This record gives sequence, structure tokens and C-alpha cells, in this order.
Amino acid sequence: MPYAIHILETGGPEVMRVVDVPEELPGPGQISIDQTAVGLNFIDVYHRTGLYPIDLPAAIGLEAAGSIDKVGDGVTEFSVGDRVAYAGGGLGAYTSKRVINADAVVKIPHDVTDETAAAVMLKGFTASYLLHRTHPVKKGDIVLFHAIAGGVGLIACQILKQLGAIVVGTVGSKEKAEIARKYGCDYPIVYTEESFKDTVMDITDGVGVPVVYDSVGASTFDESIDCLAKFGTFVSFGNASGPVPPFEPGLLSQKGSLFFTRPTLMSHIGTHELVTELAGWLFNHIKNGLKVEIKQTFALKDVADAHRALESRNTTGSTILSP
Ligand SMILES: NC(=O)c1ccc[n+]([C@@H]2O[C@H](COP(=O)([O-])OP(=O)(O)OC[C@H]3O[C@@H](n4cnc5c(N)ncnc54)[C@H](OP(=O)(O)O)[C@@H]3O)[C@@H](O)[C@H]2O)c1
Repeated sequence: MPYAIHILETGGPEVMRVVDVPEELPGPGQISIDQTAVGLNFIDVYHRTGLYPIDLPAAIGLEAAGSIDKVGDGVTEFSVGDRVAYAGGGLGAYTSKRVINADAVVKIPHDVTDETAAAVMLKGFTASYLLHRTHPVKKGDIVLFHAIAGGVGLIACQILKQLGAIVVGTVGSKEKAEIARKYGCDYPIVYTEESFKDTVMDITDGVGVPVVYDSVGASTFDESIDCLAKFGTFVSFGNASGPVPPFEPGLLSQKGSLFFTRPTLMSHIGTHELVTELAGWLFNHIKNGLKVEIKQTFALKDVADAHRALESRNTTGSTILSP
């Protein structure tokens, strides 16, 4: 019998329950997937804690891969046996079997494993839109990217190097700094021990950087804004330490006519065409050397341990949950 991870109430990792679920048949335009790998993402923590409110009870999770076992009426692009993956398409990825709209999925190329696809889609899509669309990074830019040894971080680091940027990345420990360096980070800073603003100002001769990508939120906001050059862009894309506190728009003028944006991936993957385009770009990058190492694997039924590891900053790179 299929099973899923449900939450009945928001709270700590213990609120996630393993429940048996009846097998669903795909309706028109839908497919059913035997899932082999589920991607762990920090947004799953926000859904679980209630920071991002959702209707309860709910199945959580946004990213997975597997093989199609049934197709609904009207589905022409996919057949039984196709290996597919998704990042989005509604909550409910934490399950052994998933019915989902065919529009949300893409085929996985033969040289990419299910685990890699589930490890890279949401994080890679995010890195792509942040660095190409939100603030297009140019060759020679000095860029500050927080939590560079994390899931989004290690992918973003490699893309930044391909774009010709100089990468200043923050990390929570010396071990993470070594990992970041291996992925191309030019200046890993252990921000739990030293000021990242001082390093940024040293590297930029006191000018500051044109862009900060900040997914840490509350604990880094004040120092991050002080790292920006005049007319710089603050990209706030996450809240790992808590949400950014409210601030007066006047702060942006005082600090040098800054731009502030709070983007979300979901605005960038609204259609099947957009998902297919981003996935094609990402899988091509993997073929050309983008490293997606799965640094941690947990059984899906042990998802509470996976959340504890992620929230206590004990993971690097991508984490997979095995159904
Ligand atoms: N807006 C979007 O479209 C979008 C899409 C995807 C992800 N995100 C955001 O991007 C960030 C990265 O996501 P991810 O799934 O790849 O996670 P992750 O980076 O693998 O994990 C989060 C990292 O944040 C750092 N961190 C700093 N302070 C923390 C604290 N108080 N508690 C926990 N972690 C803390 C830790 O790295 P250090 O120990 O090195 O500091 C931790 O490893 C998350 O904030 C996520 O919400 C946003």
C-alpha cells in the first residue's frame, strides 16, 4: 500500500506522520508516479512550522522523481515506464506514489539518475532564476551569496563561476568552507566566527558588492545591506534563520539608492513550457560538468531526522529521501 508523510498540525519535526494512503488513479491530464527519490528542501521546513501557512491536514514536499505507472486520459507527452521528475505542481511529494498533473513533470535524460534529478530540480531552478533573471550576474562581478555550502548554494556557486563572477560565500563552519572552496567559491567566510562585511569591504576596496543573495534572513539582513555598493541589489530569497524584520523604505535610500526584491521560484515555473525550458538548461549543465553530489540520504519514513539535520545546519549540498 502506498504511504505518505502528513502533518495534522504545524510544529517540530515530530508532527510529520507516516500514513498509509489509498492508491489513487490519475484523472484526465494526470499521471501516477512510482516515486524512487524525494528532494529535501528548506521550504518543507517552513511548511511544517507554519512560517508559510498551508491548509491542514496536508501532505508536504515539492520535489521528486520516479517512473510513470499509469497515465490519465488526454496525456500524450508521457507513457508508462517513462522516468520523470518535478519541482512544484502542488504539495505532496513526500510519498511513495504520487498522482500529479502531467504539466508539472519533465522526462529525465538517460544519463541522469532519479536521485540526481530529485536533488537538483528545485535547487537548480532557483539558482538559475536568481542568477539569470532576478539580478543577471556579469563576468567580473563580485557577488555575495549566503549559505554557499547548502543545497541551492553549491549549485549557485558553480553557475556563478561559469558566468565569470568572483564568489564571496558564507558558511557555518571551517569544514563547510573547504567544501565551498572545492566547488569554486573564491572567498568562503565562516560567518559564525568573523564579519562577512569586513571581508567584502577588503575585497572590494571599500566599494561593496553589486548584489547580495540572502536566504538566511533575520540574522544576516543588517550586515548584508551594509555590503552593497551604491545602486546595489538585495535579493532576499529565504528565511533559514527567521524572516527579515520589517524595515522603512528610507533605509534603501540611506544606504545608496539600493534595490530590494523578494522573489519566489513559483513565479518562474508557472507553465509546462517554463519548467521544460529550465529543466533542459539544467540537465544540459549536468552533462557539461555541473556537480550535484547527494551528501545525505535518509529513508522517507525517517524524514523527521532529515528535517532535524537540515535545521541544525548539519547538512551540505543536496539531501535525498528514499521512499
Ligand atoms: N525564494 C525561492 O524561490 C527559494 C527557492 C528555493 C530555496 N529557497 C531558500 O534558499 C535557502 C536554501 O535552501 P536549501 O533547501 O538549499 O537549504 P540549505 O541551504 O541546504 O540549508 C539552509 C542553510 O542555511 C544556513 N543557515 C544559516 N542560519 C541558519 C539557521 N539559523 N538555521 C538553519 N540554517 C541556517 C545553513 O548553512 P550554514 O551553516 O553554512 O550557515 C544551512 O545549511 C533556504 O532559505 C530556502 O528557503 C528559496
